[in-house]
Amino acid sequence: MHRFFNLFTLVFLSSSAGLVQANYDLLQQKNCFACHYMDKRKYGPNFKEISAKYAKDSSAEELLTKKIKAGGAGVWGEDMMPPQPQVSDAEARVIAKYVLSLK
Ligand code: HEC
Repeated sequence: MHRFFNLFTLVFLSSSAGLVQANYDLLQQKNCFACHYMDKRKYGPNFKEISAKYAKDSSAEELLTKKIKAGGAGVWGEDMMPPQPQVSDAEARVIAKYVLSLK
């Protein structure tokens, strides 16, 4: 069922009308909003400041795809992001692209 839904999400993504909503839903489903807001600080950095930080970094998509699954600390301060095993590689990449597209 999950696998089917992911496929649906990816197909949905290819229509530009669905782009923002599908990714936002994914963040919600994967519980990212427990620690992140879109545009103000919560426990973790907000998604818009993350996008701004990496705006000129061409390796950011790879970096964030890995970090979204593995978690880590030391980039934004002392707080640590735990690993997110509920996120697949494909989902992590979709999320990384989405976060980096935020303005
Ligand atoms: C328990 C709290 C928590 C949860 C849940 C969480 N994060 Fe984080 N996240 C953090 C913290 C804290 C940081 C800052 C880590 C650092 O300074 O390296 C962070 C950093 C990030 C970064 C920036 C990484 C960097 O190196 O600049 C991204 C992107 C991110 N999180 C995405 C997500 C996504 C997507 C989810 C949901 C799948 C998620 N986070 C769930 C706490 C959390």
